[in-house]
Amino acid sequence: MRLVLLLLSLLLPLRAALAQEAVHGGPVRALAVAPDGTLASAGFDQSVIFWDAAGGRARAVVRWHAGAVNALAALPGGLVASSGEDGRIALWPPRPGAQPLRVLEGHEGPVVALAAAGPRLASAAWDGTARVWDLGAGALPRVLEGHQGNVNAVVFGADGVVVTAGADGTVRAWPEGEPPRTLAEFSLPQNTLAALPGGALAAGGADGIVRIIDAGGAVRELQAGTRPLVALAASPDGALLAAGSIGGSVTLWEVASGRLRHTLEGPGLPVWSVAFAPDGRTLWTGGADRRVRRWDAATGSPIGPLGGEAEAAPVAGLDAYGARVFRACSACHALTPEGGNMAGPHLHGLFGRRMGSVAGYEYSERLARGDITWTRETVADLFTRGPDEVTPGTKMPVQTVGNAEDLAALLRFLEAATR
Ligand code: HEC
Repeated sequence: MRLVLLLLSLLLPLRAALAQEAVHGGPVRALAVAPDGTLASAGFDQSVIFWDAAGGRARAVVRWHAGAVNALAALPGGLVASSGEDGRIALWPPRPGAQPLRVLEGHEGPVVALAAAGPRLASAAWDGTARVWDLGAGALPRVLEGHQGNVNAVVFGADGVVVTAGADGTVRAWPEGEPPRTLAEFSLPQNTLAALPGGALAAGGADGIVRIIDAGGAVRELQAGTRPLVALAASPDGALLAAGSIGGSVTLWEVASGRLRHTLEGPGLPVWSVAFAPDGRTLWTGGADRRVRRWDAATGSPIGPLGGEAEAAPVAGLDAYGARVFRACSACHALTPEGGNMAGPHLHGLFGRRMGSVAGYEYSERLARGDITWTRETVADLFTRGPDEVTPGTKMPVQTVGNAEDLAALLRFLEAATR
């Protein structure tokens, strides 16, 4: 018994340090960056989060897809497209409401990649097809058929021609009004694509090799590792290429020389998604730790995650341990009315407040019902069983607070900080 207590006392500080600080409820599968720098992230938790990236705060969370959200693309006018395991594509307004502006249906399997060029949106799916949607015209999409098996990736290449890659190992171009062309054929599935300057393309394979296919069809190989690649992103000027593998590492390459510039090391690996900021200096990664992280593309060093840590300035008189646990919440919730409604409602006056009652916040139908009053007990229940259990249909990403210690500290903190 003594030994157990001793072990526990040794473990406790460690546990506190590991207090859950995730923002998404599952791995971050997709990222999209708009030209103005706003960022969207999406994941296996079915949610899409729109970020004010400079401030590190979540502006909105939407949960609408039935299943994981696999891909995102930034569209003109600040719109963001999301696609999911449910085979649907949704277009979201720049100030995300509870519902999409438009839904594109037709795919008969998970839609795993999206690419945008002007008013055109291309999608790749595990129904063996890719589609090109003209968002201006609203007409039926062009359906691209020919791959054997899943289509895993799609980009707009030189002259706006759609290029796809698939489980059949081929990379294909689909010029409008002409027969499709096979640009390259490899013996292993190709998982991801990036378009490079001069009509070149990069394909990331199941064998961990990045293959750069130039406009003439010549292929160069970059050995990024041995694990399957799941994400590729080119910097805006096309000089750098980031490759993320399911095994963990993110490598940064100089495209022209083929030189490995950095292998990212630090928290948040393995990653599922990578994207460059418009200035090319910041690299975003989304990973298994359910966070969006920021890296310096020049040095390869971590800058930190979005939400949470940056806002964790200690507040005098408040439970410091509880404040640390609250970091997981602070990306989406302000504590005061002045802090306003962010992705979630402000939490001022929480205890004694009816669920779904903050004026001006657009709640999900479930929370708007208002049939729970928030108390120590009901908030504890919310984060023990999880929002999906307690309030099914909520748009708050799955959040639970793993241990009793953390939960007690969070409640102490909330009691004082929301008064
Ligand atoms: C990624 C964003 C996000 C994170 C992180 C997050 N929440 Fe939320 N939270 C929301 C959203 C969105 C809602 C509104 C849900 C709805 O309308 O269905 C919400 C609702 C709530 C509510 C109900 C409020 C009301 O007015 O009825 C409470 C309480 C709450 N969150 C507490 C927390 C706490 C505590 C944490 C951290 C452990 C946390 N949330 C983490 C987005 C988030």
